[in-house]
Formats: sequence, C-alpha cells, structure tokens
Amino acid sequence: MKAEPVPNTLAVPCVADELALARTETELAERLVASDRAGRPVTLLGGGSNVVLGSRLPGLTLLLRLRGTTCERLDEGGWRVTAAAGETWHNLVRITLARGIRGLENLALIPGLVGAAPVQNIGAYGRELGEVLESVTVFDRDRAAFTTLRRDECGLRYRDSRFRAAGGRCVIARLSLRLGATRIEASYADVRRELGRMGVAAGDAGARDVARAVTRVRRRKLPDPRRVGNVGSFFKNPLVTARQLDAARARVDLEAHPADDHAGERFKISAARLIDAAGWKGQRRGAMQVWPNQPLVLVNRGGATGAEALDLATAIADDVRGKFGVALELEPRVLGV
Ligand code: EPU
Repeated sequence: MKAEPVPNTLAVPCVADELALARTETELAERLVASDRAGRPVTLLGGGSNVVLGSRLPGLTLLLRLRGTTCERLDEGGWRVTAAAGETWHNLVRITLARGIRGLENLALIPGLVGAAPVQNIGAYGRELGEVLESVTVFDRDRAAFTTLRRDECGLRYRDSRFRAAGGRCVIARLSLRLGATRIEASYADVRRELGRMGVAAGDAGARDVARAVTRVRRRKLPDPRRVGNVGSFFKNPLVTARQLDAARARVDLEAHPADDHAGERFKISAARLIDAAGWKGQRRGAMQVWPNQPLVLVNRGGATGAEALDLATAIADDVRGKFGVALELEPRVLGV
C-alpha cells in the first residue's frame, strides 16, 4: 500500500508514506526488524481511536491486526483470558460476558483495539484495565525479540503507562487478563441511576447488567465515532496539589478525589467541570466543536484537520489555565507532521 489515507476516529485527513498490516506476530516482527535496520521511522496504530494525526505520517505506518482470543478456566478459580492486539476491545468484553466471565463489564463500549488498552490504561466507571491485567507480550525492538512483561513492569498509572512514552521500543502484541475475581463495581452515580431505570437495584446487579447500564450511559453522553469524529476524552482529568485545588475552588465549585499513586499531585479533579465552567460547552471553532453532552470530548463536525483540533484544544487549555490556574494535559497521542 502506498501513500494511503490513515484510518482514525477523529476523521482528520492524513496520509502515510507507506501503510501495512501486521496480521500475525511473525509479520509484526519482520516489519519492525526491516524498518529498524533501514533506520526508517515506524508509527504503530491500532484502531486510530486515541490519536490526533498531522497531515502526514513519515516512513512506515503499521496497522496492528493480530487476531485471536482464548479463555482458560484456572484450578485456583477465575479465568485467564488472552487477546491479540488487533481484536476489537468491545468484542473482547462481549466474548467474556457471554461466557459468564466478569471483570470487563465497566469497560464496555470503549472504542479501539485490545493492543491500545494498556497504552493509556483504559478506565471507566470505577474500573481500570490495570486491575485485571496479568501480563503484556510485546515485541522488544531493541532486542528484536518477543518478551512478556508482568503487570508491575508496565508502569500503569491513571491514563498512562511505559508504552505511552515517546520512542517506546516495546510494541504490544497480546494481553493476558485475570478475570472472574473482581467484585461488581456499580458505585458510580451514572451507573446506579441507569441500573435504577432498568429496574435493577445496584446491590443485585450482575456483570451483564453493569455492562448494559454502562453502554446506555456512554451512548447517551458520548458521540458515536462512526458518525461524529472524536477520540473520547481530549484531556486527562488533572492531578493537582492541595494549593492548586484551593486556588481553583475559590473560583469554581469542584469535587476532588484523592490520587495517592501520584507523588506530589494528590487530587484528581474533573476537566469536564473546568471546561464547562469556562463556558466552552457546545462552542465551535471552524469545523471543531466542544461536545454539548460531555465537554471533555471535542468533535469534528466534518472537514477539520488535526491542526484545527489542536488549535481548539490549545484555546481551551489556555482559557482554563487563565481562569482556574489548572493545566490540562492532552489525553490522545499526537502523531505525524
Ligand atoms: N461535568 C460537567 N459538565 C458536563 C459534563 C460533566 O461539569 O457537561 C462534570 C461533572 O461534575 C461530572 C464530571 O464532569 O460529574 C465527570 O463526568 P463523567 O462522569 O462523564 O467522567 P469524566 O471524568 O469526565 C472520565 C473518563 C472517561 C470515562 C468516564 C466515566 C478521563 C479523561 N475520562 O470522564 O473516559 O468514560 O470518566 O468513568 O479520565 C476517555 O478516556 O476517552 C473517556 C471517555
């Protein structure tokens, strides 16, 4: 494939110098080794659902399309579920729930592919991937070999991991999850309310009920990327110190959640709340818009470029910093030129 358009859910125009598929671990290894030997840049993409692309990706763009899942019941209880990087995340959620395996129900309907899940340690409605991840099998480009990293070697934090670091040399090929051991997490107000509407008391909810409630909440709040270009949350929820929190609270009513795994920054606050309070909900700039039902999401109304998306994001971040003294950090990765 030559100079082909690069698929991305923000639906911005971008071409790759060369686009290729990696359908097996062998294809993945061969492509990476050949490009690394030639000193050619490589961009790795899953579903393109958490990236903001420039107009061109230099060198080789490799689309991860490795397929396959397995479910193994363990003697000690619970399940080991493996999934290749190119499986659709939501499909994995459905496969496990259909077999009565709990653990992924809160992560229903998250766009993108399995291989991207550890990169930003996907999380929603009270559960993060890190709680159920056992290990990640990667192709280590420095050693030109596959290796398996245990969860504690993956550097997982809120929307972050070692795989996000620029120039990351480990390419995710497969995940292993430990499922069936987590308790039902239905404490989020949105989920409880939705279960109520479905006629299910939060205390009686099973994994499939939670998945259905989460799916209904997400469908209502978040734009469907197949119809309206978006990458989900455009910013992370900021982690702030007690002093920053006090300063912001002098100007806006804010909830804060202790985040003890982040040294020096102890409270997580809502970026959506700040963006909303700054008056950005529904605002348009060119073809980009702040989504009215969830202002953390920026949407492409048709014809926007990656640069235009970043312009809107910068304008919002500058305004929020000026008004509340809080810096917003981008959640998707920015790739290309
Ligand atoms: N809010 C407003 N105005 C609004 C909407 C929300 O002020 O119009 C405030 C409210 O205070 C609300 C709070 O924002 O309580 C939180 O909103 P929500 O429950 O939608 O969660 P979020 O913190 O904005 C995070 C994740 C989402 C995930 C939800 C649910 C990040 C960056 N985002 O959003 O993940 O689905 O929680 O758990 O952590 C994604 O990462 O792409 C994503 C969609």
